[in-house]
Amino acid sequence: MAEIRKIGICTGGGDCPGLNAVIRGAVKTAILKYRYEVIGIRDGFDGLIWPEKSRPLLLNDVSGILPRGGTILGTTNRGNPFAYRINHEGQESVRDFSGEVIKNAKALGLDALIVIGGDGTQKIGLDLAAKGLPVVGVPKTIDNDLSATDVTFGFDSAIHVATDAIDRIHTTAESHHRIMIVEVMGRDAGWIALHAGIAGGAHIILVPEIPFSIESVCSYISQRSIFGKKYTIISLAEGITVPEEIRQDCIRRYGSIPKGISVGNLIGEAIASESGKEVRVTVLGHTQRGGSPSPYDRILSTRFGVAAVDLIAQRGFLKMVALRGGRIEFVDIAEAIGKMKAVDPKGELVNTARSVGIHFGEE
Ligand code: F6P
Repeated sequence: MAEIRKIGICTGGGDCPGLNAVIRGAVKTAILKYRYEVIGIRDGFDGLIWPEKSRPLLLNDVSGILPRGGTILGTTNRGNPFAYRINHEGQESVRDFSGEVIKNAKALGLDALIVIGGDGTQKIGLDLAAKGLPVVGVPKTIDNDLSATDVTFGFDSAIHVATDAIDRIHTTAESHHRIMIVEVMGRDAGWIALHAGIAGGAHIILVPEIPFSIESVCSYISQRSIFGKKYTIISLAEGITVPEEIRQDCIRRYGSIPKGISVGNLIGEAIASESGKEVRVTVLGHTQRGGSPSPYDRILSTRFGVAAVDLIAQRGFLKMVALRGGRIEFVDIAEAIGKMKAVDPKGELVNTARSVGIHFGEE
């Protein structure tokens, strides 16, 4: 087995609280435990297309970054080296830089690369591995929707932000007798809406996995009103399917779905017009992705960073670290990607929510 002397590390796709803690865990383990040199690859894979952007990571470089949000390496979700979009004087073209990436990785002396990112980034890692760059993966998404791992770092921090927002919304909603919608992230899955909804005591949770209707939502709001609860808080995932009649109504009024309008606002308008009540919408957006990671995420990220370097030392290439049943395990990247973990509409957590009276808006 060829000796490993130098490894690279990169972060790709959207950022997430805990990335720096992974970088720190990996760099410390590489240097202190294995005496590897580490190169920090800048802005996703860009630092391998333009290697002058990349630089060695020493212990000093990772000092103090444990609680810091974002990624000290920078990231991009537009940097696929196999199909890199270039804009030259307004003209867009697509170029394959993968050959350069492999050549530059060799020139930098990289024996392996740690790829921290979601499905798209891991797929690029696999394609680079097929061209000769050994990779190991670290999964990342605040949405917590990867089936390969019980939890992804960043999720816990995101639900802290979302829960805090719902807590704050409670007092103002109650004072004004309003319906308040808190729109949270979750492009394909409703984990953040479900967890924050339960933790924050929302009355209605709307997730992509459970079809809902405005009539059902409004009838639940009226029932609450009859029992003296004049306000209602809705935890809503950005990835819900907007009911067809709302889409059609929007197209009738504006000609198309206005660009940039949030689903929370569309649903809010529909509830206001059906119920005749005052509705306010808060879109949390990237506040859930920014800022310091929670203690849980710092620990999980550290475990992932350490394990990724251990994986390299064991020559476990094409594998990814994962948390399963509380233990760190290694899984094949190819098996892991593309398999989404959705909220189970009949699962224990949804049933728990139902047991405490939370409504999911179904007919
Ligand atoms: O997948 C993670 C995520 O945070 C989603 O919840 C969200 O829809 C998306 O990324 C936002 O991406 P961007 O930062 O590119 O707008």
